[in-house]
Amino acid sequence: MKILVLHGPNLNLLGEREPDIYGKMGLDDLNEKLNDEAKKMEVSLDCYQSNYEGELIELIHKVRGEYDGILINPGALTHYSIALRDAIASVDIKAVEVHLSNIYQRESFRHKSVIAPVVSGQVSGFGYYSYILGLYALINELK
Ligand code: DQA
Repeated sequence: MKILVLHGPNLNLLGEREPDIYGKMGLDDLNEKLNDEAKKMEVSLDCYQSNYEGELIELIHKVRGEYDGILINPGALTHYSIALRDAIASVDIKAVEVHLSNIYQRESFRHKSVIAPVVSGQVSGFGYYSYILGLYALINELK
């Protein structure tokens, strides 16, 4: 089983970016934790971050047929990118959406996810552990 982890805009700054909201763990450490879990579950994992909507969309197109599942934190694109939503809907790959923060406890513009209707489910509010929970949920969906 092959899983692609996609981190959206500004997640390259994890650890230094608003640590009270997003935690002190950097992106490399987060990816390492995910890789550790993936090894335990005997799945292959690749992690990718981009600040560009179009790059994420092109990657989703490119990997169709190559990956079984996508674990995605779309960052702010969550709330407005119909193009990213359509990309996920266009490929036959199961996806799970994750957020470090609880987007429903924050500003009202974060309460809506345009991505949620095209993914299997969403995990929000557990810091880095949202990704771990999301990974397990995705693996379970794919089995
Ligand atoms: C986020 C929540 C988004 O609202 C925000 O724009 C992010 C990170 C999260 O992981 O909590 O960049 O997706």
